[in-house]
Amino acid sequence: MNIIQVVDQNMGGEAGFAEFKTALEQGANTFGLATGSTPVTIYEQLTHSALDFSQKTSINLDEYVGLSPENPQSYHYFMQKHLFDAKPFRESFVPNGLAEDGDAEVKRYDEIIAEHPIDLQLLGLGKNGHIGFNEPGTPFDEGTHRVTLTQSTIDANARFFEDEADVPRYAYSMGIASIMKAKHIVLVAYGEAKADAVAAMIEGPVTEDVPASALQNHDNVTVIVDAAAASKLS
Ligand code: F6R
Repeated sequence: MNIIQVVDQNMGGEAGFAEFKTALEQGANTFGLATGSTPVTIYEQLTHSALDFSQKTSINLDEYVGLSPENPQSYHYFMQKHLFDAKPFRESFVPNGLAEDGDAEVKRYDEIIAEHPIDLQLLGLGKNGHIGFNEPGTPFDEGTHRVTLTQSTIDANARFFEDEADVPRYAYSMGIASIMKAKHIVLVAYGEAKADAVAAMIEGPVTEDVPASALQNHDNVTVIVDAAAASKLS
């Protein structure tokens, strides 16, 4: 893994932006995108840039089950607000949280990913080592699936909701098998709370107990971290 240490999240935004710019210059067509607090500065850099994604495709990692695109806590809404309103793509895919048939929805999403091989996949990192909503114990060979969120993830995401009880208990997530097919993976993590997960991802055993450790088996991973997130690396 290629590790880039940055001073803070703003510099991380610039480092992440540089990865998107290079990918575009190299002809990338499809970008896998993440939500959460981590990618926000990258999206800020992108929205303020002249980069053009109007002929490109984006595929998001995940979405909560039960939230409509108009719900401010949905990942659809997040992406509109932080990126797509200012920087539209030709087509943008996010799992449909309101899908009536969950099995059909995961199949549909896998077909989308198969039709649009991901050139650059942006990832955040959960404190428990999750990527997307692939929680510890998720088989590495799984495609898109419906996930029961762990209490640790519900607690971590409660800050975005008025009440912890409002945090959805289920989500759709791209699987680790799909993430691993991306040509280039850019994982970003900031802060001390991520330090254990960063160390386990990079230096620990490759195990389904730490979903991000699967990335050790990918030959083109860039990790952008600040000093606090890198503090437990040897
Ligand atoms: C979001 C996602 C999650 C987050 C992770 C870190 O689409 O897939 O894996 O990247 O939970 O979240 P933040 O960035 O809020 O710390």
